[in-house]
Amino acid sequence: MHLPDYKEARTRDKRKYNRIDFKIDNNIEKKYEGKTYFLKTYGCQMNEHDSENISAILEAMGFSKVDDYNQADLVLLNTCSIRENAHNKAFGMLGRLKHLKSQNKGLLIGLCGCMAQESKVVDEILKDYKFVNFVFGTHNIYQLPEIIDDAVKTNKQQIEVYSREMDLVEGLPVVRSNNYKAYVNIIYGCNKFCTYCIVPYTRGRERSRKKEDIIEEVKTLVKEGYKEVTLLGQNVNAYGKDLYDDYNMGDLLEDIAKLKIPRIRFMTSHPWDFTDKMIDVIGKYSNIMPSVHLPVQSGSSKILKLMGRRYTREQYLELFHKIKKIVPGVSISTDIIVGFPGETEEDFMETLSLVEECKFDNAFTFIFSEREGTPACKLKDNITLKEKEERLYKLNEIVNKYFLENNKKLEGKVVKVLVEGVSDKKNMYFGYSDTNKLINFSSDRELYCGDIVDVEITEAKTWSLDGKVK
Ligand code: 5AD
Ligand code: SF4
Repeated sequence: MHLPDYKEARTRDKRKYNRIDFKIDNNIEKKYEGKTYFLKTYGCQMNEHDSENISAILEAMGFSKVDDYNQADLVLLNTCSIRENAHNKAFGMLGRLKHLKSQNKGLLIGLCGCMAQESKVVDEILKDYKFVNFVFGTHNIYQLPEIIDDAVKTNKQQIEVYSREMDLVEGLPVVRSNNYKAYVNIIYGCNKFCTYCIVPYTRGRERSRKKEDIIEEVKTLVKEGYKEVTLLGQNVNAYGKDLYDDYNMGDLLEDIAKLKIPRIRFMTSHPWDFTDKMIDVIGKYSNIMPSVHLPVQSGSSKILKLMGRRYTREQYLELFHKIKKIVPGVSISTDIIVGFPGETEEDFMETLSLVEECKFDNAFTFIFSEREGTPACKLKDNITLKEKEERLYKLNEIVNKYFLENNKKLEGKVVKVLVEGVSDKKNMYFGYSDTNKLINFSSDRELYCGDIVDVEITEAKTWSLDGKVK
């Protein structure tokens, strides 16, 4: 049994990581043939991609997937800790599973992902959720076959959570949930320790994958007919810093662009590490999509300092305008938190004025949520929930206004769309543009998923655009 330890998770020492290859034990491979699994994923793209690995491991063990948890022999929750409501959703689901287990004693229940890294959650599971058969952390995915097999053999609760990252595991199997768009991890973890954020504790320090491993994965995806890769990391801009002296995100983007995959995206970028080389490369290669997610979090330099974001309002704006100037037609999206402890009405107004200046193409907006163990948790919070909700409402009104305004500029224009699906209506399709906008469109000729087509925009809405194939 390994229990999570927050103190250890918080350490910032540099480690040397070995690269190990995943291998499934012959005795466990296909052992569970005939059994079924249900996997529920909460949270970000990193979790979604982890679930693609977890599914493949379960399938290598013999489990097959079902879409209804009532029909499953194994139910696994891949959880998220970023805000309180993500927490509550997972615990709500555990409540429902308790009921199910009382009717089906043989049901296996597991919990993994970011919540598994929190000592408080694991303590609660040990004490009040004894029906949960196993818990494993974000650094323990490769041990899943043994963890499940031990839970079955011993009938005892298994808790396997390393507080810190150990080795960098390559060769995890994967079942991708989309045949044309694929996620590729390039860097794990985060060293930024923004004061509100739990991610550095749940995902560990920054570890880059070797460029050769990433390039090999993308080459395989090209051969398999994939049209789009999204390079993933909590902060992709830090790529390479822990591994190479003179090879970073700009170089990686350029090497991947040369592999001729039609579309490359990347997320998420911290403004701090966004180099000129990166901007130049994004502008230079037509297969790097002109779409950047650049979380600002607040428009007030005072709040940014309290958040530990390492840039001021002015520095953010300078970077923002530089990207806009060098990458033609780029869309920029962002994340914003309102109600951070100490945020006054003036600070909030600065956030609104920054939004007025940037006119973001998309924005994910949140009310600050206290995460235990993070420094912001200790800050005095004198804003009422009602005030926070009012700020969020005001902010959303303004961001939505600009989504529509930006979309309107596309009316009458032709954009490239990767066809992702057929909608219920006849001859109607949907997909995303280069700038990552959802397009619903009609076509007189039959189209196939994975095609990249020219679509003329006929009508702009706030969250999507309508169009017609040229
Ligand atoms: N409260 C509210 N929002 C948060 N985020 C991260 N931590 C918190 C928190 N404690 C938001 C940030 C980040 C996004 C992924 O989630 O805006 O960019
Ligand atoms: Fe969290 Fe900041 Fe790291 Fe993003 S950069 S994962 S907000 S600590």
